[in-house]
Amino acid sequence: MNGVYNESMKLAIHGGKPIRTKPLPAWPQYDEEIEAAAQVLRSGKHARQSGSRVAEFEEAFASFFGVKYAIATSSGTAAIHIALAALGIGPGDDVINTAHCFIGTATPVVHCGAVPIFADIDPRTFNIDPDSVREKITPYTKAIVPVHLNGCPADMDHLQEIARQNRFYIVEDAAQAHGATYNGKLVGTFGEMGCFSFWEDKIISTAGEGGMVITNDEQLAKRAKMIHHHGELREDGDYYKGERLYFHPFLGYNFRMTEVQGAIGLVQLRKLPHYIAMRRKNAHLLTQLLRDVEGVIPPYEPENVTHVYYKYILTLDRKVLTTPAVEIAKAISAEGIPATRRYPTPLHQQPIFVEKRGFGNTNAPFIKPWYQGDVTYGSGLAVAESLPNDLIMLRMNPFLNEEDIEDIAQAIRKVIHYYKTHDPVVH
Ligand SMILES: Cc1ncc(COP(=O)(O)O)c(C=O)c1O
Repeated sequence: MNGVYNESMKLAIHGGKPIRTKPLPAWPQYDEEIEAAAQVLRSGKHARQSGSRVAEFEEAFASFFGVKYAIATSSGTAAIHIALAALGIGPGDDVINTAHCFIGTATPVVHCGAVPIFADIDPRTFNIDPDSVREKITPYTKAIVPVHLNGCPADMDHLQEIARQNRFYIVEDAAQAHGATYNGKLVGTFGEMGCFSFWEDKIISTAGEGGMVITNDEQLAKRAKMIHHHGELREDGDYYKGERLYFHPFLGYNFRMTEVQGAIGLVQLRKLPHYIAMRRKNAHLLTQLLRDVEGVIPPYEPENVTHVYYKYILTLDRKVLTTPAVEIAKAISAEGIPATRRYPTPLHQQPIFVEKRGFGNTNAPFIKPWYQGDVTYGSGLAVAESLPNDLIMLRMNPFLNEEDIEDIAQAIRKVIHYYKTHDPVVH
C-alpha cells in the first residue's frame, strides 16, 4: 500500500469494505473425538473410577512427554493447585508468579494458603524475567511458576539456576505450550511438576475443560493422585478401584477428569504433532508476510526453542505509531480478523491482590499472622504494566490455510498503514 488514497483503503471500522467477510476456520474441530465420546456415553462408565479412558490418556500423555507419571485433572488451574499442594506449599510460604498472564496461574497459590509474589516479564518473549525473579525472592519463597506464554518457552536455563541456588521448586505452567521445546526438551519436564490445560481453545482440548500434571517423582505423583481425589487412599494402593475404605490421609479435592474427557484427550494427543506443525507453519508464514509492515513487530522466537504459537502476538512499534492497542485491535476485528488486546490488566494490579481479598472476610493468606513477609501489589513492574498497551493478540490455529493467513496479513497491513499515516504524534 502506498500513500495514495483509494477507496479500498477505507477502514471497515470507518464504513469501508472489510478484507474478509467469511469467518476464519473454527477451533477446535472434533471428528473421531465424537465417536470416542459416544462410546463412553454408551458404556455407562462415565467416571474415572469405573472406566479406563482417563487412565489410558494419562499413560499416553506420560509416554509422549517421556515422564513416569501423569495425573489427569478437571482443569489447568486444578493441575497447578494439585502440583503446589503435592509439593507441600501452604500458609506462610510465597511463590513467584509472572505478572502478565491469565489469573489461573496465580490463584492456585492462594488456594493453597500461600502468597503469590509477582515478577516482571521479558519484553520480547513476554515470559517471566529471571532478573526480576532474583529481586523478588524472600525468605519464604518455596517455588516459582514459570508460564510458557503463548506457546513460547520461558528462559528455563536461568530459572533452573535460580531455583537450584535458592533451593526452591519449579512448577511449570505449560497450559499454553503442549509440545513446545526448550534446548530440545519438552516444556513441562523441567520442573518438579509440569501442568497443562485442555480448556476449549488450547493446543489440544478435552471438550471444554481439563488438565494434566506430570512428574518423574513417585512420591509427588502419589500425593498428587490423592489430592485430586479427596485425599483418598485405598489399601491395595490403587486410588480408584478395589474396596473403598473412605480413608483420607490428605486434604483433597474432587479434581478428577471424566471418562468422556479422557476419551477425547486420547484422540487429541495423537493429533498433537500435526497440530504443532500446522501452527508453526501458519505462524511463520504470517511473520514472513508481515516482514515489510513497518509498525508491527512479529512474535520473537528464540533460537533454542520450538514455539508452538498458541496465540500470535504482535507488538506495536512505538517509533512508528502511537495508537493504543485497543483501537488497532478493534479496527483489525472490523476487517473480519478477530483481534484483541493481550491481558490488559497485569496480575499484580488485579483487585483481588491489590486489596488482598482472601478467604472469607479476612485478608488471609496475604498478611500476618498467616504470612510473615510483607507484600504489596499494584505497581513496580514496568514492563508488565506498559506492554499490554502495545500488544495485539491474533488467533492461530492448525486449520487456517494460506489464503486465511494472507487475509490476516492484509487486514493488519491495511489497519497499520492507516494509523501510521494518521498518527498525530509521530507524523
Ligand atoms: C497460562 C495459563 N495458566 C493457567 C490456565 C488455567 O487453565 P484452565 O482454564 O484449564 O483452568 C490457563 C488457561 O486457561 C492459562 O492460559
